[in-house]
Amino acid sequence: MDNPKHLLRALTGISVWPPPIWLMRQAGRYLPEYRAVRAKAKDFIALCTTPELATEVTLQPIRRYRLDAAILFSDILMVPWALGQGLAFREGEGPVLPPLRDASGVAALDPSRLLDRVAPILETVRQVRQTLPEEGLGGTALIGFAGSPFTVACYMVEGGGSRDFAATRSMAFGSPALFAQLLDILADATVSYLSAQIDAGAEAVMLFDSWAGVLSPGQFRTHVVRTTRRIVGELGRRHPAVPVIGFPRLAGLLVGEYARATGVHAVGLDTGTDLVLAKSLMQSRVALQGNLDPIALLAGGSAMRIEATSILEAMRGWPFVFNLGHGIVPQTPPAYVAELVELVRAA
Ligand code: CP3
Repeated sequence: MDNPKHLLRALTGISVWPPPIWLMRQAGRYLPEYRAVRAKAKDFIALCTTPELATEVTLQPIRRYRLDAAILFSDILMVPWALGQGLAFREGEGPVLPPLRDASGVAALDPSRLLDRVAPILETVRQVRQTLPEEGLGGTALIGFAGSPFTVACYMVEGGGSRDFAATRSMAFGSPALFAQLLDILADATVSYLSAQIDAGAEAVMLFDSWAGVLSPGQFRTHVVRTTRRIVGELGRRHPAVPVIGFPRLAGLLVGEYARATGVHAVGLDTGTDLVLAKSLMQSRVALQGNLDPIALLAGGSAMRIEATSILEAMRGWPFVFNLGHGIVPQTPPAYVAELVELVRAA
């Protein structure tokens, strides 16, 4: 039976028009109600691991905008946290981890406790799914997520964010067997974690590969495509009906090869990707998602309308999910988001 939820229809290759819409970082600091809940939690990790609070912030943008999807409120770095690598989020500084640079760092990771440690996050998935509107408009689907092994490894090896992830790429070139071992541990953890999210009620899952584009084509094939294919294949065996969205940010001309070789059902595109060109690189009608510049949304007004309209024109007739090309920035006025949703609903 066809799934009636618009997001799930689009992700499985049907052109739904007007297209379903949700936005990366739709729950976050740009919303005053998020800042109020965030102030109640001890820190960001406590927010992610307290189901009542995480459920509340997951639902906030749905109440405001009636989007086609809720995305679990958590973070890609909760996997290294659950594997026992330390993690802290410092105000204004972003994530900080003890840098993992050698075999002893890899050996210290403990996958045996992963599912215990993420239990509160899985409870959030259950609570959100119970509360979401199943009917009305096109329904609201629940998206689970994880980082891709490569992008998560970037933060683990560097010990936080970086301009160019040079230490990570050095490990990939200099200690290829160790780096592959780290990615394999992360790929297995990602399969268990996403599979548990699906069992708890996630109806689609997304793999965030924010730094896929820092690699050469050869390294991209080895570290991004190989691990993503493994994850998509294993999830497909366990949950054949659940679509996987891959987001190989900055992958440029390699998005077509990424789609074909990994088997993802949908590809998220960053702001710099030309949508007509991206369609021509797809060998089948794989769903595409994206790619309004978050800064066009911050600017608002006619700049936002012109950019959003050109995206809609490019994608009419294709299985498409409207989104940003990267996350909402914290300074974005919530009213601009409401205007964007209205514009897309009127397409
Ligand atoms: O999209 C959503 O609404 C769901 C929740 C979500 C968050 N992070 C919440 C969050 C998702 C899907 C993510 C993914 C994520 N996290 C990525 C991939 C997407 C991307 O942005 O490239 C990455 C690289 C991270 C790692 C991360 N988490 C960084 C670098 C930071 C600090 C920078 C920043 O934007 O604050 C975070 C913190 C974080 N994750 C916040 C939120 C709402 C801000 C925390 C706060 O409230 O202070």
